[in-house]
Amino acid sequence: MIGNLELVSLEEAAAVVGKTPHNIRDYIQRGRIAKYNTHGERIVRARNGELRVSLSEIRVFLSLIEQGNEKHHHAGLNSELGFHNVPEYQRTKHVHRLHPYLGKFIPQLVEWFLSRYFKAGDVILDPFMGSGTTLVQSNEQDMHSIGIDISPFNCLIARVKTEKYDVGKARSEILEVEKRVTNFSRHLTEPQNAPLPLFPEDKMEELKAGLLAECDSDYLKTWFAPRTLLEMLYYRRLIPHYSYQDLLRVVLSRAVRSSRLVPHYDLATPKSPLPVGERYWCRKHNRDCVPIDNCLVKIHAYSGDTARRIAEFDRLRSDRLAIVLQGDSRTMGLNAALSTSSIAGRSIDGIFTSPPYVGQIDYHDQHIYAYELFGFLRKDELEIGPKKRGKSKQAQQEYVEGIAAAFRHILPLVKPDGKIFVVANDRFQLYPDIARRSGMMIVEEFHRAVTKRTEQGDDPYQETIFFMMKEI
Ligand SMILES: C[S@@+](CC[C@H](N)C(=O)[O-])C[C@H]1O[C@@H](n2cnc3c(N)ncnc32)[C@H](O)[C@@H]1O
Repeated sequence: MIGNLELVSLEEAAAVVGKTPHNIRDYIQRGRIAKYNTHGERIVRARNGELRVSLSEIRVFLSLIEQGNEKHHHAGLNSELGFHNVPEYQRTKHVHRLHPYLGKFIPQLVEWFLSRYFKAGDVILDPFMGSGTTLVQSNEQDMHSIGIDISPFNCLIARVKTEKYDVGKARSEILEVEKRVTNFSRHLTEPQNAPLPLFPEDKMEELKAGLLAECDSDYLKTWFAPRTLLEMLYYRRLIPHYSYQDLLRVVLSRAVRSSRLVPHYDLATPKSPLPVGERYWCRKHNRDCVPIDNCLVKIHAYSGDTARRIAEFDRLRSDRLAIVLQGDSRTMGLNAALSTSSIAGRSIDGIFTSPPYVGQIDYHDQHIYAYELFGFLRKDELEIGPKKRGKSKQAQQEYVEGIAAAFRHILPLVKPDGKIFVVANDRFQLYPDIARRSGMMIVEEFHRAVTKRTEQGDDPYQETIFFMMKEI
């Protein structure tokens, strides 16, 4: 076996996978699998007796056919980087599923590159950090990490994922808030048979009025049922009484996201709220459904789950730093921001990042419910390549300038031989230009099929991981 290729002859491959040698030859001719020689080198023409094929490539290809994704595979794709056999629970392992986030990459992709190109103790930067996947994986792989993101809520998610907790205390805080909101909700829905000392009947109306007075968001009043709104406002009011406030915000935000008046199949990009109690045909459940009218069910679902996930990460994590910086990567004063940390003055060993792509996602808007609930300051105007600016030639031009400006700003802090990995679905072929404008050269390109996303509902597509280095 050479590397992970498992090279065999055509006949051996056919016998192992239960096909005929003719089938295997057909896959080669259609460019679905590659030809190798006996040394494991890719070849165009085979000399007598030297033709080998890769069993692992064939297995990936056949599993894609089984899933109906054949068209997303060709011999130029790196078969390992498809991670086709990684089950859902591993793609969303521990803290990676603390909060949904459209556009995150799978942890196995980060792991693959970090373990091959970096070593323990290195400093890894992600200038477009998103929900912090690079930081979590760097920490798990014993490396320091720094993440920058323009969106305050993304920074909150990343901080919550990477924070070192007193796990027992975090668990008891989450469960205590869950219990208090459950009691409140019981009194809200069945006041006659739940005499609770915290909520005497005569005070309940006052409490509800007080909670509603704390809400000045038309969005919240429109996108949530009356009971849902009261439960989430009550939860929000409890948060300042606890130590792990951001962790509680993430539990609440995740519950709130799933409690909007939207169809169950449309949580990622809902267009408008449904009327309370309105029946609709649900594509997800294949039956009539009504939008959820409370937040409690989701608070129950996510409270224990969050406590379990941070405990799981706590068993794997290292003591390396994970520094989250909120701001614009084109202007962030990194030296000053790191000056009091134990990695002050150190050069950056490498970058692993997936920048926003032109006209794909509005990164603030995808979490509008959290901005409305917690009042974080939005910085939409500084997002590079947002969906609302489209994909026109001009939008592409602005995007190229924006991403190149961020790299130019950061590169002086990267070691001369630092390794820079940029994950992009570069369908407009903008990255060669971005590399040139930033003073980087593209060393290698890895192509991967993205057939399973961390988030559900995305179409399969291909993406490239550009391995770049600074021009000397
Ligand atoms: C594709 S996402 C990164 C996802 C990340 N890899 C993950 O796994 O969660 C790109 C991120 O770039 C951020 N961003 C956009 N413009 C930015 C800017 N000017 N400075 C810093 N971050 C920016 C967006 O807020 C978004 O979170």
